[in-house]
Amino acid sequence: MNCIDQVVTDRYAAYHGDCVEVLRGLPDHSVGYSIFSPPFASLYTYSNSPRDMGNVRSDAEFFEHFDFLIAELRRVMKPGRNVSFHCMDMPSSKERDGVIGLKDFPGDLLRAFQRHGFIFHAKVTIWKDPVTAMTRTKALGLLHKSIRERSEMTRMGIPDYLITVRAPGESEHVTHTAEEFPVSLWQQVASPVWMDINPSDTLQFRSAREHDDERHICPLQLEVIRRGVMLWTNPGDVVLSPFMGIGSEGFVALEMGRRFVGAELKKSYFDQSVGNLAAATKEQAQGLFAEAA
Ligand SMILES: C[S@@+](CC[C@H](N)C(=O)[O-])C[C@H]1O[C@@H](n2cnc3c(N)ncnc32)[C@H](O)[C@@H]1O
Repeated sequence: MNCIDQVVTDRYAAYHGDCVEVLRGLPDHSVGYSIFSPPFASLYTYSNSPRDMGNVRSDAEFFEHFDFLIAELRRVMKPGRNVSFHCMDMPSSKERDGVIGLKDFPGDLLRAFQRHGFIFHAKVTIWKDPVTAMTRTKALGLLHKSIRERSEMTRMGIPDYLITVRAPGESEHVTHTAEEFPVSLWQQVASPVWMDINPSDTLQFRSAREHDDERHICPLQLEVIRRGVMLWTNPGDVVLSPFMGIGSEGFVALEMGRRFVGAELKKSYFDQSVGNLAAATKEQAQGLFAEAA
């Protein structure tokens, strides 16, 4: 595997390196489900590495780089299985983009996947509180004073989306029993808007902070991952996150008895993900032991 460091066990493989290089080392049709948050083009810069997909000068540069990843995802995904990406419309700014407005990053991502033959499969809106966003960003469109002074510039808060695309073809189906997946749960998950995702339902991230190049990380809410893994994988399937961060996708996949493969470019996040994956494996083993007792 072409990477800087790796931790490989029978349950998971975590690679410190560029996700495109890591995916090139994975066999064809070996992944049952992939779920991740891409580094949002120019929103946060996670590291100074030119391989960091968040460290780009323009959206076009981001998509040029991201395209190599989609090509590899298309190759490693099992036919008929899903890839979910977590994203949002991106506010544009006067300084960076010339105008204040929104950019359709989710649509651009989706079209990039479609160009590689993936099928648009599902999209769920994840509600986010506009008051929290206003406090954090001070965006003109969300400030109450804009209502009084220039209401034409006001806008709604920006939700998150989990968009899912499907690799064409068919392989073994994902199945559930009515007991493990009752109608009430299905109705909750099938809702086109998830109002019930707690924004702080994430793995701890404080210890991953480094001083010189660190700005921010958005760990994915564990319940979002749980719903994707529950719907679209069988126990034992390999779940992949090309942008593993601190290991949230892997943590949930392992907890739920799936296997996991992940790549992360930034050493401090990689190190933390390795700790989180080991903790999840231990928890899962303890759970199985308790069941058997
Ligand atoms: C939005 S964060 C993912 C957070 C993750 N879902 C979690 O819950 O921890 C995106 C991550 O992609 C990583 N990254 C950026 N470019 C990369 C690349 N080329 N290969 C692997 N990881 C990369 C960044 O360092 C960052 O940790």
